[in-house]
Amino acid sequence: MTPDKNNQPGHYYVREPAVRSQPRELRARLAGHDLVLTTDRGVFSHGKLDRGTKLLAETVEIPAGARVLDLGCGYGVLGIVAALEEPTCCVTMTDVNSRACSLAKRNAQANGAGCIEVINGDAREVLAGRDFDLILINPPIRSGRENVLRLFRWCASTLAPGGELWCVIQTNKGARRYARDLEQWFGFIETVRISGGYRIFRAREPRQDEQPG
Ligand SMILES: C[S@@+](CC[C@H](N)C(=O)[O-])C[C@H]1O[C@@H](n2cnc3c(N)ncnc32)[C@H](O)[C@@H]1O
Repeated sequence: MTPDKNNQPGHYYVREPAVRSQPRELRARLAGHDLVLTTDRGVFSHGKLDRGTKLLAETVEIPAGARVLDLGCGYGVLGIVAALEEPTCCVTMTDVNSRACSLAKRNAQANGAGCIEVINGDAREVLAGRDFDLILINPPIRSGRENVLRLFRWCASTLAPGGELWCVIQTNKGARRYARDLEQWFGFIETVRISGGYRIFRAREPRQDEQPG
């Protein structure tokens, strides 16, 4: 397999990474929280915190008591920061990648994040019938445009009334085009922040007729 940009052979969006495990710990201060995070090969952003993830974690506004979904959680940064920022929230983290889910569980415990559940599988299958007030996503751009659009569409069908989707995408990975795509499924889209080559969007008012994607 060809190594990717993170110098990891293969992809991070697989059920069982084929690459040998090589855990690496990182420390980061995010939204005022000092975190110790275990990362691994075969999981997005091994050994370092993704700049887009950091920007979203430090930008998102989390309503008290919200049911939060960290969609494609990787090793769990977004969900953990949400749970620490707003302890009245319950956070669901999900990822197709089983190694990512094990790390997310371990990192949530290690950092004292309260109400967290971690569910392994394709979100569209394992969370069918659930709804959420806030969905956080750093989408798997490398898995292809079609997959990302399917996830966005599914998000629209899964938001509770008044809920919001918050998303970070690198500007040179098609962020502006993805924002326009969101208009198919949401009545309101706003660019909340542009920084360091990333854009953060929030979308709400899912279109009424939206079916699970
Ligand atoms: C760009 S990574 C972001 C990881 C983490 N949120 C972060 O910011 O560090 C996208 C994640 O989405 C996961 N993913 C892709 N398709 C998915 C799906 N259908 N359901 C759940 N997770 C998915 C991938 O395995 C990957 O871990």
